[in-house]
Amino acid sequence: MRTQVGIVGAGPAGLMLSHLLHRAGIESVILENRSRDYIESRIRAGLIEQWASDLLVETGVGTRMQHEGMFHNGVYFAFGGALHYINFRELVGKGVTIYGQQEVIKDLVARRLADGGTILFETSDVSIHDFVGRAPKIRFRHEGGDVELACDFIGGCDGFHGICRPSIPATALTAYDREYPFGWVGILSESPPPEHELIYAYHERGFALYTMRSPTLSRLYVQCAPDDDIENWPDARIWHELHARIGGTRKLAEGPMLQKGITAMRSFVVEPMQYGRLFLAGDSAHIQPPTGAKGMNLALADVSVLARAITEFYRNGRSDLLERYSATCLRRVWKAQRFSWWMTQLFHLDATHNAFDRKRQLAELDYVTSSEAAMRSLAENYAGLPVEI
Ligand code: APR
Ligand code: PHB
Repeated sequence: MRTQVGIVGAGPAGLMLSHLLHRAGIESVILENRSRDYIESRIRAGLIEQWASDLLVETGVGTRMQHEGMFHNGVYFAFGGALHYINFRELVGKGVTIYGQQEVIKDLVARRLADGGTILFETSDVSIHDFVGRAPKIRFRHEGGDVELACDFIGGCDGFHGICRPSIPATALTAYDREYPFGWVGILSESPPPEHELIYAYHERGFALYTMRSPTLSRLYVQCAPDDDIENWPDARIWHELHARIGGTRKLAEGPMLQKGITAMRSFVVEPMQYGRLFLAGDSAHIQPPTGAKGMNLALADVSVLARAITEFYRNGRSDLLERYSATCLRRVWKAQRFSWWMTQLFHLDATHNAFDRKRQLAELDYVTSSEAAMRSLAENYAGLPVEI
C-alpha cells in the first residue's frame, strides 16, 4: 500500500490534516486503532476558538456547527457571590463556539469518506519505520492481515498515549512537564442552562465550571483530588458541590446524569515536534489542563501549519516550511500553555494555598474583570491567538 502522507490517529488533528491535504490535492491514509463509533461518541471539551470555527466553515465542514453550535460573545467569572461578564466581542471582535468535539469528529469523518478518503478503523499493532530517511513506512494489522503502508511523510496525530512520540529516540526530545494537585469531575446532565454562556466559578470549596452542549444538555465540572476515584462522587455529592460553588450566583437545575468521569490536569510539551519525516501534531506533542479548552484548538492549529508546509513541498519543492514546522507551532503552543496554566492557577485552590493566596487570587479576579487592558488580554487569548502559518 502507498500514499503520500500516512497519518496515525483519527482525532481532530489526524482528520483535519487529511481533510486539508485533500483540499490541496494530496493523498493520505488515516490509521485509527478504535472503532468509528468509539471516536464519534468520546466526550471531551467542546469549545472552538474564532479562527478555528472560521476554518471549519471555510473548508466546508462547518455547516452543522453553524446550525447546532452555540456562538458565545463572552464568558462569566463567578467569585465573591457575583457574576462578572467579559465581553470578547466588544474587546477583540471575536467569540467562541460551543460544539462538542465528537460532533467535529463526526463532521470530519463524514466529509473524508464522502470525498473518497481512506480511514482504516480498528487497526492494531501500528508501528512506524524509516522516518529518518526519505521512505517512511507504517506497519499495522487490519482485518486479520499484516499491512505495510509506504509514504513520504508521517503525521503523528495519535494523541498523548500514542506510539509516534515514543518511537523517536528519547535523546532527541526534551519534555517539559507539570502536574497539578487536582483533577475535575465532569458530568453531562439533562438540565436547562442557568445562564446562556459559560460560568467559571472561584470558590473556597474549589473550582467549578458550568458549560453546555445544547439548550437542554448541561456539562458541569467540579474540582476534585488528583487521584480521585469516580466512585467517591455519587450524584448527590456532585450536585451538592455544584450548588455550593456556582449556586450562589445562578440557580442550577438538577437533571439526570447521562455521563460522568474524571479529567486529569497536566501540562506537557515535547520539543521539537519533528524527527526526520515524522511530524507530531496535537496531543501527541502537547497537552494542557482543560481550563480554557485549548486542546482541540491547538491540534487544529498544528495541522494547519503542517498541511501548508507539506503542500508547499509538493507544489513548489520547498522544504523550508517543513523545517520550520516545529518552531512555528511551538511559539503558539507555548502561549496556549501559558494561558491554560494561568487560568488554572487563577481558579483552583490546593493544600499549599493559605489565606494570602486566596486574597491574591481574588485580587487578580477583580483585576481581570474590571481593567479593560486585562480583560482585552484575556479575551484575545481565550477567543484564540492567530495562527501564523
Ligand atoms: N494507533 C492508531 N491510532 C491510535 C494509536 C495507535 N497506536 N494510539 C492512539 N490512537 C488514536 C486514538 O484512538 C485517537 O482517536 O489517535 C487518536 C488521537 O486523537 P486525540 O486523542 O483526539 O488527539 P488529537 O487529534 O491530537 O486532538 C487533541 O483531543 O485529547 C483531546 O481534548 C483533547 O482537544 C484535544 C484533542
Ligand atoms: C466544555 O465545554 O467541555 C469546556 C468548556 C470550557 C472549558 C473546559 C471545557 O474551559
